[in-house]
Amino acid sequence: MFRPMQIEHLHVAYGNACVLNDVNMEIGPKRITCLLGANGAGKSTLIRALVGLTPPRRGSIFFDGEDITRLAPHRVVAKGISCIPEGRRIFSKMSVEENLLMGAYQEKSRGEIKARLDKVYDIFPRLAERRGQLAGTMSGGEQAMVSIGRGLMPAPRLMIIDEPSLGLSPALVKENFRIIRSICETGTAVFLVEQNVRQTLAIASYGYVLSQGRVIAQGTAEELKSDSQVQKAYFG
Ligand SMILES: Nc1ncnc2c1ncn2[C@@H]1O[C@H](COP(=O)(O)OP(=O)(O)OP(=O)(O)O)[C@@H](O)[C@H]1O
Ligand SMILES: [Mg+2]
Repeated sequence: MFRPMQIEHLHVAYGNACVLNDVNMEIGPKRITCLLGANGAGKSTLIRALVGLTPPRRGSIFFDGEDITRLAPHRVVAKGISCIPEGRRIFSKMSVEENLLMGAYQEKSRGEIKARLDKVYDIFPRLAERRGQLAGTMSGGEQAMVSIGRGLMPAPRLMIIDEPSLGLSPALVKENFRIIRSICETGTAVFLVEQNVRQTLAIASYGYVLSQGRVIAQGTAEELKSDSQVQKAYFG
């Protein structure tokens, strides 16, 4: 458990290009919070700011009551926040198991690492079967499992996932969402960035809609489903 992550008046820019403008959000424990928005809205930029990769120009980020606004990425991980980046970024020349172990590089106890590995293999039996295979030769769906598995290896309190369903078949998207929901049920909060609106709102409890770097709507999943802006943009 943790006190909610608070994102306050966040401004992020690349050079002169302002990408996030006065973004305010709250990401709570024991739930899936989602972030919806079109291509280029600034979703991945927000994630990069949260995990210390792109420091914001202004504003603050609190996690469990602590100011983490300008922490380096490895220190953000040490606070219990893991990130599954856009495009998965697996190490293709390393085996599945080596990829998973990279996720636990901050943990020193061999017993603990083994326990976490077993847990990931429980969730993804396919990865257990193929632990020695080069990750780059896994199918797209299997690589998605590797990236989620690696994100679980630090035993995060909050897992941030950037568009996990990108490029997957409908059946695999469904399976992935089922797993994300079960990860949340076992106590890891999830911040889910997606364009797959229907399925995301089916598993999230609260959400935000980002458009051109601003939050244009927020509410419970039920509220967002009936929000006129969301309806217009996503449900036709
Ligand atoms: N390193 C960068 N330098 C300059 N501009 C950037 C950089 N990264 C992103 N941008 C710009 O910032 C804006 C937001 O990009 P971002 O990747 O955050 O969008 P997104 O919502 O994640 O989109 P998508 O759904 O396509 O992944 C875009 O206009 C993009 O071109
Ligand atoms: Mg993105």
